[in-house]
Amino acid sequence: MSTAGPLPRCESSLGGQHSTRSDKRGGNSSTGLRIGFIGAGRLGTALAWSFEAAGLRVTAVASSNPVSARELAGRIKGCQAMTAQAVVDGCDLIFLTTPDSAITPACASLRWRPGVSVVHCSGVTEVDALYAARDQGAAIGGFHPMQTFGDPAAAVASLPGSTITIEADEPLNAILVALAGQLDCRVNRLPPGMRARYHASAGFTSQFINALFAEAARVWESWGATEAQALQAMLPMARGTLASIESAGIAGGMPGPVSRGDVGSVEKHVAALSALSEHTLNVYRTLCTSTVALAVERGSIDQATAHRLREVLK
Ligand SMILES: NC(=O)c1ccc[n+]([C@@H]2O[C@H](COP(=O)([O-])OP(=O)(O)OC[C@H]3O[C@@H](n4cnc5c(N)ncnc54)[C@H](OP(=O)(O)O)[C@@H]3O)[C@@H](O)[C@H]2O)c1
Repeated sequence: MSTAGPLPRCESSLGGQHSTRSDKRGGNSSTGLRIGFIGAGRLGTALAWSFEAAGLRVTAVASSNPVSARELAGRIKGCQAMTAQAVVDGCDLIFLTTPDSAITPACASLRWRPGVSVVHCSGVTEVDALYAARDQGAAIGGFHPMQTFGDPAAAVASLPGSTITIEADEPLNAILVALAGQLDCRVNRLPPGMRARYHASAGFTSQFINALFAEAARVWESWGATEAQALQAMLPMARGTLASIESAGIAGGMPGPVSRGDVGSVEKHVAALSALSEHTLNVYRTLCTSTVALAVERGSIDQATAHRLREVLK
């Protein structure tokens, strides 16, 4: 990254702290870094917009469909749509934001050079997937924002405060940490070889929440309520649970009958759901059994009550 110049201050993004606005705007070296994107999809679009909003220079975009590249480039001042090779040739730091399956072939199809850096944003793909660039002298890394990128505008709004998992050797590591700070994000580190395990864990607090809401909404539909009615009732409760976890921790912040040792209520739940859906009952049993361990951990039920609950949930 010889073209990048000195780095902006970023230490406040380390150790789980947020950078301040003056940190974000204070360093002028980061604004000189020419950032390019290959893959103008959901994450690429949101990240490019976020970098621009943070005062960074996104100068070039390529995508398999040139229309996508032109659309993204047209919304960023000083940015141009071009071929992927032209992005590599004209930028200091390239974000390869294609779908995961295209990362290695796209990287291998391009000519790289010493002094340029390329990162992918996949949580599950090892950084070694960029070996073709590394073998030609480029620096490689991973920059995985732990956030949902659906609608780009919504993603831009939800990115500050998120955690970005960074994996790179120096000096690229310091540059990526600085960028995370400029997005007001925290930094997470991963030991090598842990990406698949780490990415699987993220599912529990992202898309599996959708699956949980689907189970609950299906139960509501059994008495004629709509999904919208179910959501209206359940979303505030879910937010309350998140707030409780935030203030009291996973075990300490757990609500519900198991946390009170209420075996009778759990028996009624099992009877009601067994008359409704075997699938929903099985999901309930699995999750409710997990809550028994949490209730023991928080000290709100004793081992005898835990045993009775587990018997009901068999
Ligand atoms: N979405 C999320 O919530 C999320 C969260 C964290 C990390 N990520 C990671 O971010 C990366 C991108 O994911 P995404 O959700 O943004 O995917 P996406 O919406 O499918 O966007 C990727 C875009 O890349 C373009 N593309 C495909 N193959 C290409 C190639 N060979 N060369 C150049 N451009 C190509 C396609 O755009 P056109 O066909 O329009 O050109 C495609 O729409 C993935 O590694 C993913 O794991 C995603």
